[in-house]
Amino acid sequence: MKKIKYGMIGGGIGAFIGDAHRRAARLCNDFELVGGVFDVDYERSKEFALQEDIALGRCYESVDLLIEKELQLAEDQRMKVVTIVTPNTLHFPFAKKLLNSGFHVICEKPMTITVEEAVELESLVIEKQLTFALTHTYTGYPMVRQMRDLISEGHIGIVQRVDAQYYQGWVNNIIHSSENRIGKFWKLDSRQTGISGCLGDIGVHAFNLAEYVTGKQVKEVLSDLNTLKEEIELDVDGTVLLRFGDNLKGVIRASQVCAGEENNLSIGVYGSKGSLTWSQENPNFLTLKTLTEPIRIYKPAHTYNGDFAERSHTMKAGHPEGYYEALANIYVGVRKSIKGEEINAGEYPTVHDGVRGMKFIHAVVNSHKTGNSWISINQ
Ligand SMILES: NC(=O)c1ccc[n+]([C@@H]2O[C@H](COP(=O)([O-])OP(=O)(O)OC[C@H]3O[C@@H](n4cnc5c(N)ncnc54)[C@H](O)[C@@H]3O)[C@@H](O)[C@H]2O)c1
Repeated sequence: MKKIKYGMIGGGIGAFIGDAHRRAARLCNDFELVGGVFDVDYERSKEFALQEDIALGRCYESVDLLIEKELQLAEDQRMKVVTIVTPNTLHFPFAKKLLNSGFHVICEKPMTITVEEAVELESLVIEKQLTFALTHTYTGYPMVRQMRDLISEGHIGIVQRVDAQYYQGWVNNIIHSSENRIGKFWKLDSRQTGISGCLGDIGVHAFNLAEYVTGKQVKEVLSDLNTLKEEIELDVDGTVLLRFGDNLKGVIRASQVCAGEENNLSIGVYGSKGSLTWSQENPNFLTLKTLTEPIRIYKPAHTYNGDFAERSHTMKAGHPEGYYEALANIYVGVRKSIKGEEINAGEYPTVHDGVRGMKFIHAVVNSHKTGNSWISINQ
């Protein structure tokens, strides 16, 4: 099978998530990185291209040049899809240009800075009939997919409570450092990050996961955010109450100041007959507790799992897979979509999930600003 040629914007030397995308693309074995704009600094971008053995002629100085030069290549040589792994404010302008020029897009979260931009991208994706994947990576884990299937098949009965938590501690190293790095780090600077810090960065993953596994949409939120210090512009911690309608309620707790926490994303969905809990740091274990049976642990690579979960794991039972494989599963979904293959609902997060995420972030900030009031997510 011919590999899909892809490009990358951002993700150069020392960048965090671009490297994970490249590993995931290599793992799923359907993609070949052929060029990009890897760094804000062109010299460093070229240095990266040399390191990765990418032709310097396809290491471009800007996204405009990338589009112009790639479109001059024969169709079978040209990149088909471009991955955007830059700071948040650049997602929208780059995605818009690429979609308008006929490229499929894989984009990091949060999708845009405003709800209006998100809605504009959604219309563009529909108009151009292109693939747009938003990398809420956690939806790629086999046991998250199993959780979604078990809930939709009624194994825990009527869903009555959703509890999602995303705790990290790394922001302490920035905000309490002796050189005071608060103004120097892009994730705490609204000009590069948008209107929210922690909730926009990781709260939105918890929100996406809650909607993904339950198949239900949050209708209203009430939030209480914390910037911790006067001089910090954006939230570094927060709690959000959720109303889904039909008496289903829940909570998202997100924080980047929980010293000692690493990447503790956990979700519990509680129903009338039982509950399911999953935690990202031990992703191969999904726990089912019921009112009547002993506790069950689901693990990948067993025939008792549904089809979708089983297709999302490649090794035999007992060989743990993790973050890279979950991201690779999103890339598999993108390949299927680009090649017009049969695709499962939930195979990759879409532009519609991106719109939901931006509405969530804006409603959360709005709720906090208006004295912790209930705000409709669809405003
Ligand atoms: N899905 C996830 O779990 C996950 C995890 C981490 C980060 N992210 C998201 O990924 C994005 C990048 O985060 P990161 O932590 O990798 O950031 P980073 O600071 O480590 O890397 C950003 C990269 O973008 C490049 N860049 C900046 N401006 C550019 C421009 N104009 N043109 C080309 N390249 C440019 C930088 O040079 C750098 O290589 C963010 O939107 C973040 O929210 C997602």
